[in-house]
Amino acid sequence: MSVIQSIPPKATEDRKKITTRLIQAMKTHHEPICMLTAYDYPTALVMDQAGLDIILVGDSLGMVELGYESTLPVTMDEMIHHSKAVARGAKYALLVGDMPFLSYQVSTTEAVRNAGRFLQEAGMNAVKLEGGSERAEAIRAIVGAGIPVMGHLGLTPQSVHKLGGFRPQGRDAEAAYKLVEDAQVLQEAGCFSLVLESIPGRLAELVSQRLEIPTIGIGAGVGCDGQVLVTHDLLGLFERFTPKFVKQYANLSGEMKRAFSEYKADVKANAFPGPEHTVEMNDDEWHNLEQRLAQTSPIFIIHDPSMR
Ligand code: KIV
Repeated sequence: MSVIQSIPPKATEDRKKITTRLIQAMKTHHEPICMLTAYDYPTALVMDQAGLDIILVGDSLGMVELGYESTLPVTMDEMIHHSKAVARGAKYALLVGDMPFLSYQVSTTEAVRNAGRFLQEAGMNAVKLEGGSERAEAIRAIVGAGIPVMGHLGLTPQSVHKLGGFRPQGRDAEAAYKLVEDAQVLQEAGCFSLVLESIPGRLAELVSQRLEIPTIGIGAGVGCDGQVLVTHDLLGLFERFTPKFVKQYANLSGEMKRAFSEYKADVKANAFPGPEHTVEMNDDEWHNLEQRLAQTSPIFIIHDPSMR
């Protein structure tokens, strides 16, 4: 039975806000957790209407929305700006703000302060950060300040240069063992859930079974407790590259190109706007205007729309 059966996606009035406790209960009841990324108000609104459990304002923002080559240039201020827009759109999903590169690695104090900004300024309910045991201290401090933390292991895009590219992780026994250990450390440090990105399916399943907290997979198979995708990948809106693990549910780039081309053709052919898109003025008022203009500025020639 669904843990959130009392939350039908459309009947918004009697829906409950999703909390970290509900997310934990979903694992207990074997109900898959459904998460997507969003970076703006209209997308967050539609996701909330569709009944998504978690919305992540991912630092993938940098690549799919801001056009950077990686997530590294994304700043705290950019994340806060987009998180605020998402929070205005989504009232029910659990909202997670992704801590950008260098916002939590330099010192524990900075990590807590930056995590706090996501809740205090941007209306997020939790934060996410990347890395294993080397992040345990920062996680403990952030959780200690009352801020729920989602961990992120496997392919951690902020370490793209250290990893030698956007490549699958944990494929040999040593790396897989380290990942199992790191997952345990993150749980003990207080994470309420864990993203597992681009690791072998059976490793993700093993980690999910060993942990009490839910795992959320991206390119990690069906054995995780939930799934996440970058929304632009799912919608076919990011054409630079599409990871193998993405299932494309729409082709919005194609649809947008069609709409923009049709609009251009209409404008060039004077076929838009039509009368139905144009505000009219009644004839009496129009003649009044003509008379007044003729008196005050006799050389002014009024364009008569009926002569077009
Ligand atoms: O930034 C992001 O979108 C992410 C997801 C891929 C989990 O971290």
